[in-house]
Amino acid sequence: MRNNIVEDIKARVFKLIKEAKDVKSLEEARVKFLGRKEGELTKLLRSLKDLPLAEKRKIGPAANALRKELEALLVQKLESFKALPAGRQSKIGIDVTMPGKKVFRGGVHPITLVEKEIREIFKAMNFSVMEGPEVESEYYNFDALNIPQDHPARDMWDTFWLRQNEVKSQKLKVKSEKLLLRTHTSPVQIRYMEIHKPPFQIIVPGRVFRYEATDASHEINFYQVEGLMVGKDISLANFKFVIEEFFKRLFKKNLKIRLRPSYFPFVEPGLEVDVQCVRCGGRARLPDGQGCNICKESGWLEVMGAGMVHPRVFEAAHYNPREWQGFAFGLGLERIAMIQYNIPDIRLFYSGDLRFVKQF
Ligand code: FA5
Repeated sequence: MRNNIVEDIKARVFKLIKEAKDVKSLEEARVKFLGRKEGELTKLLRSLKDLPLAEKRKIGPAANALRKELEALLVQKLESFKALPAGRQSKIGIDVTMPGKKVFRGGVHPITLVEKEIREIFKAMNFSVMEGPEVESEYYNFDALNIPQDHPARDMWDTFWLRQNEVKSQKLKVKSEKLLLRTHTSPVQIRYMEIHKPPFQIIVPGRVFRYEATDASHEINFYQVEGLMVGKDISLANFKFVIEEFFKRLFKKNLKIRLRPSYFPFVEPGLEVDVQCVRCGGRARLPDGQGCNICKESGWLEVMGAGMVHPRVFEAAHYNPREWQGFAFGLGLERIAMIQYNIPDIRLFYSGDLRFVKQF
């Protein structure tokens, strides 16, 4: 009987501790078994000295081990109660009334948001949305766009060239063997015209790459949206209307727009479209007197190159340039997103910083 006494105490005290709902009932269990005067286990330990040697050797170590085990268990259980606010202790030690942790379900990247908005605006103006490959041939990226080998305009697009053995498996239909990461979305103009008859109007959103130094408004990897409208009597007046309408719908306010003469080999005449700088409001200086680093103290953000499609480009696509006319444009998506959301540095888009992306 005496041999089982430790086991018996253990079974009863463990049951009590397990069932303890709060600190009070836990303390009652402690006092019942480990209380200094009347605790059952304390009394057993005290009585060891009066037992015959054989029994003492058997019960002594077991009773002492149980005491240690109990003390640790009581501390552990007490800690679990402390973690809960008063009055919120459940039987199983979990606070079932506590509000759950909010799970961040992910969000849409600001570039995607702006791209979607631009698609919708142009779709409403009867433009179709097309796409083209990011790995492009030298032919489509340069030659067909009236930028022949050794033409100084190729300097405008510092290019990531691809080693041929790395891209063999891509099986791209190419006219020149040399492959590259496209430096702009303009090659899709040729790809589209090769297999479609005018009149039409398309936009081509997509990712482009340039091997250049980064700063607050330049990245090596960015997005463009190409536009191309071809028909019988298309003129720059049509371009001006479409683009003014686009900016009005996008910004929902009248930000000033400026058209400047510019040069791109695949348009004639060529234009640069600028929008008033959103950071300095076109003043080129910030309120603290410092020069604005977004617009490089010019008061304007260059968002788009444009112009009337060059006759050589139509010829490359087997269109008769006397029969067809059109305008084309290429806008930088990040710059638009920077204006939309007042983002001071383009590098934030690709920093992978969750504090940035979670805001959208
Ligand atoms: C072009 O890429 C021409 N393909 C645009 C074009 C299309 C002109 C059709 C005429 C007809 P540009 O290099 O200027 O042009 O780039 C167009 C826009 O992309 C710029 O206005 C700018 O908003 C954006 N952009 C250019 N370089 C960068 C860069 N490194 N980082 C972020 N955005 C850039």
